[in-house]
Amino acid sequence: MKRIVLIIGGGIAAYKCLDLIRRLRERGIGVRAVLTRAAQEFVTPLSVGALTNDRVFTDLFDLDDEREIGHVRLSREADLIVVAPATADLLARMAQGHANDLATAVLLATDKLVLVAPAMNPRMWHHPATRRNVRQLEADGIQFIGPEAGEMAERGEAGVGRLSEVPKLVERIEAMLETAERASSSGSSKRAAQKPLSGRHVLVTSGPTHEAIDPVRFIGNRSSGKQGHAIAAAAAALGARVTLISGPVALPDPDGVEVRHVVTAQEMLEAVQQTIPADIAVFAAAVADWRVASPGTGKIKKSAGTSAPKLELVENPDILKTVAKRAPSRPALVIGFAAETDAVVEHAVEKRKTKGADWIVANDVSSARGVFGGDANSVHLVTAAGVESWPPMSKVEVAEALMVRAAQHLLSSQIAV
Ligand code: CTP
Repeated sequence: MKRIVLIIGGGIAAYKCLDLIRRLRERGIGVRAVLTRAAQEFVTPLSVGALTNDRVFTDLFDLDDEREIGHVRLSREADLIVVAPATADLLARMAQGHANDLATAVLLATDKLVLVAPAMNPRMWHHPATRRNVRQLEADGIQFIGPEAGEMAERGEAGVGRLSEVPKLVERIEAMLETAERASSSGSSKRAAQKPLSGRHVLVTSGPTHEAIDPVRFIGNRSSGKQGHAIAAAAAALGARVTLISGPVALPDPDGVEVRHVVTAQEMLEAVQQTIPADIAVFAAAVADWRVASPGTGKIKKSAGTSAPKLELVENPDILKTVAKRAPSRPALVIGFAAETDAVVEHAVEKRKTKGADWIVANDVSSARGVFGGDANSVHLVTAAGVESWPPMSKVEVAEALMVRAAQHLLSSQIAV
């Protein structure tokens, strides 16, 4: 039987754990519960124990517990550790590596995969301190589910902070138990299981393209390549083999990534076609929509008396559309970007359909936002299921969150097969 340790944190959402335990046990998953001191204000060890049909663990310094089944053994006997609901305080203590109660001691002593389902007031979730802790925990290999947007328990409060719904939690726990099992049966370590993109090939386009007017002049745009390069680095950190196809940028090549440098849209398309097959393709490049029909072979001179030259433009190939609609070797997950200055979400929803992408990451690039060239980004993720508006994050955070989501998507579609 698969077993999880469920660490229940102190929050209003703790009551949902009762249903979670019931659903997991229906699926033959054993649950051993650890309640933090605060959790006991919301659910009683008695009700939790009735559902787990096991002892409930509450205090690090219970001598009997420590003699019979210490925190190390609790973790050793589990296939997965789940923290739900994870409060802001628990996340902070985890990020700092505290071990001053049983919950944090189990988390610090474990070598198992850890899934965290946060639930808290939206302002606490968006607070820079919580953002920092989540970033740290993700970097440590902890996986997250939610929180989701919606009404909060407090009257009149709404935003991102709700615990993910029980069916979603169950689905994710089952998927992670499969990952853990695959990792242990192939003899690979926890670290390998934390690299959910290992064995996958990820293609990323990044930066602008330059379209020649003549040998010295070109048409370009303000893309810095920061977002695309961060995505390539994030995919590599999750274990993927990454091919980054970059237009002209001032950034160094990310470590552990194969980089192909191109200049024009046509060169970028060619490099993409040579790189496919890939499991995931992310089109973050700001490809020039047009190129000059016949660029000058020599520098166009400004001879006195003649008027300014007229540039005849022709449309460039749409790289994303070409790949998304080219059925035979279409990557399993095709992600496009939508750079918009108005009606951001509406245009992105439309672009997802016309371009044939699975997901569109939409961002507002009106100059006031400072997205082009800047380090921050505020995005909406448009999928077949709807639109998620992500809180403002750095481009590195957007990249990490996007690649974690992509890895989960591949895993769940694989399981669905
Ligand atoms: N894209 C592409 N090839 C092109 C143009 C765009 O692969 N020739 C990709 C971009 O990398 C991005 C998505 O298409 O993932 C949307 O790019 P965007 O510039 O927002 O849209 P456009 O198609 O250029 O449409 P418009 O300029 O009319 O908004």
